[in-house]
Amino acid sequence: MQADANYRVVVPAAGSGQRMASGVPKQYLEIGDKTVIEHTLDALLGCTRIQSIVVVVSADDDIWPGIAGRYSGRPLETVIGGEERCHSVLNALAHIAQTADANDWVLVHDAARPCLRPADVDALIDALDGDMTGGLLGVPVADTMKQVSADGRIEQTVSREGLWHALTPQMFRLGLLHAALEKVLSSGRLVTDEAAAMELAGYRPRMIQGHRDNIKITLPADLALAAFYLQARVRA
Ligand code: C5P
Repeated sequence: MQADANYRVVVPAAGSGQRMASGVPKQYLEIGDKTVIEHTLDALLGCTRIQSIVVVVSADDDIWPGIAGRYSGRPLETVIGGEERCHSVLNALAHIAQTADANDWVLVHDAARPCLRPADVDALIDALDGDMTGGLLGVPVADTMKQVSADGRIEQTVSREGLWHALTPQMFRLGLLHAALEKVLSSGRLVTDEAAAMELAGYRPRMIQGHRDNIKITLPADLALAAFYLQARVRA
């Protein structure tokens, strides 16, 4: 392990979660006795190698300040997000870059993924030890994949050979990721994850196998599934 490496975390939480069809953004829905984002932050704070966490929230978020109070004394800062996830992450990177070294690692993890296993964060950090580019957690695709046209009919079956779901955390060097995201956004493109920005900049991020229970809360049914996964861990 790199003894002098710094690991900083960005938690994008500035989305409105429209697909949940609930009045409250999905990161503030409750699973058991905590909100989704608290489960996420508690998992990240359980990783001893992480130095600091930047939570990115929207400018009109009036729920976060109440939750942030629970974390006073912890290495946690708040930054205001942007229109899309990639803008929110870029704002956080610009903030971190004011004080951090370009070589520091940044792990970007969705607030809406509360079932993250601290052991998977350790595995990601260990796997990328010494890597020049960085990488992300993912899982191989298990179902048969179909390409479907706009009229709902199958165009073709896509081989799932080599296909993976991209999860988070996604871990890259601060300087490289910052430059890659700035470049892609200034060209007018949007990306839905950090790896895509790195790919467009010519890098080949590494895929590290994580666990399928690291789901992103997107639809109402996901909340019950996340509750089940978290409960199962308490019982284990
Ligand atoms: O909408 P989606 O599920 O892709 O969002 C993934 C994560 O990015 C969520 O945690 C969400 O809060 C965050 N996000 C953000 N800023 C946006 C949109 C989404 O931080 N403008």
